Amino acid sequence: MRTMVYSLRRRLLGWLLFSTAVIGVIALMDTYREAVKTANVVSDRVLAGSALAIAERVVVAEDGSLQVDIPYVALEMLTSAAQDRVFYRVDGPPGEFITGYQTLPSLAETGTQSSTSFADAVFRGEPIRLAVLRRSASTGVNSVPFVVTVAETTIARRQLTQTILLHSALRLGLMIAGAAVIVWIAVTVSLRPLYRLGDAIAERSPDDLHPIGERVPNEVQGLVDTVNSFMVRLQSALDALRNFTGNASHQLRTPLAIIRTQIALARRAATLEEARGAALKADEAVANAERILAQLLLMAKIDAAAKEKARGTERIELAGLARAVTAEHVPAAGDADIDLGFAGEGEHCIRAEPLLVGELLKNLIGNALLYAGRGAEVTVRVEGRDGLVALEVEDNGPGIRTDLREAVLKRFRRGGGNESPGTGLGLPIVEEIAALYGGAMRLEDGAGGRGLKVVVTFPAS
Ligand SMILES: Nc1ncnc2c1ncn2[C@@H]1O[C@H](COP(=O)(O)OP(=O)(O)OP(=O)(O)O)[C@@H](O)[C@H]1O
Ligand SMILES: [Mg+2]
Repeated sequence: MRTMVYSLRRRLLGWLLFSTAVIGVIALMDTYREAVKTANVVSDRVLAGSALAIAERVVVAEDGSLQVDIPYVALEMLTSAAQDRVFYRVDGPPGEFITGYQTLPSLAETGTQSSTSFADAVFRGEPIRLAVLRRSASTGVNSVPFVVTVAETTIARRQLTQTILLHSALRLGLMIAGAAVIVWIAVTVSLRPLYRLGDAIAERSPDDLHPIGERVPNEVQGLVDTVNSFMVRLQSALDALRNFTGNASHQLRTPLAIIRTQIALARRAATLEEARGAALKADEAVANAERILAQLLLMAKIDAAAKEKARGTERIELAGLARAVTAEHVPAAGDADIDLGFAGEGEHCIRAEPLLVGELLKNLIGNALLYAGRGAEVTVRVEGRDGLVALEVEDNGPGIRTDLREAVLKRFRRGGGNESPGTGLGLPIVEEIAALYGGAMRLEDGAGGRGLKVVVTFPAS
């Protein structure tokens, strides 16, 4: 099943719209509070002015009662704004209603002398805003307190608030839309290098594995680096494969040709004896081919391990391993009339891959059994010296001429006058396995200047 494909552009836009919408709602709520406050401040001032105008007209009559001549112009100021309606009442000393709307709520109990206070209330089913002004009229002898209450419905305030809110919302909406357009364009422009990268890779031929050189944004460079290092590994794996197939086809051609010839001979053989002889030779050629394949595979494995580098090494005890591999070869040594033995004491640990070190040793012992000749002595030795562990395979056979020693270390190079089958990969394999684990190999004369001593040293662990 295909996994959900998502678009970076849509994701970015989604986040932007969601976050600005949340911030926008909070901002609008704040704007609303602010608008209500502003509308109240403006309108309250007019309301207070009207109350003051009425209070100015309150006088004490001769009989000591309060009288008021309502200045209707003062109330006109209020009604001009919208369809708001205006109410008022004037009260004398506590409990004494003088004029106006008697049912209009007042705030007689609260407030101090000579102050204006404001409040929200409901009158005749409509929300109103009240301004309550406390004053006293003086008779010259004593002063008579009175309260002027002026109220208006809140239509104008609500309209003002709504207008402010609407304008803010419009501005915010425009800003969000603008930001969305900018993000859309910015993302399109920013993604362009990625499209170019995609095109560049698509245009490549399948075997073109050279690193990607296209300029990409910082954030993508990590991905490109990973792909590049992957391509390097892919290239080396391909090289190893090509190397292997090339070598295999070249090296196996001879034994395969021998096998065909011998089979043809066997088919045409007049006697059973003749046929048996051909079959034996074909069998030897198969064994040879087998050995070549094994060496080539081992070589490929070392190449891969060398390239991987991060290959897991473990701590192995070399003396025990060498003793075991030597013991495995004792029967073959007996067949070849060779005296194979192990020398060395104690434990000597190194860091390496046990299978590869086993192969290294098999190659050295195999060489000694093959080339030292009948009646020879072969000694495998493990010793520790100055932080190194030395693995030696020494024989007293003919050895390798000093001038040939460098040559036999090259791949597919064999010593002169060699009758026995082989690929010429043994010593290079030994050298490469040693190098893989920080070691080295050298060829020396055997004891008393006779034969060959191969010394492989590893760092001790
Ligand atoms: N102990 C030895 N005594 C004498 N000559 C040796 C000895 N070991 C190696 N050689 C010579 O060095 C040559 C290279 O050896 P190497 O192990 O690299 O290849 P090979 O034995 O010919 O083939 P392979 O090991 O791949 O089957 C051999 O062909 C042989 O002539
Ligand atoms: Mg060999």
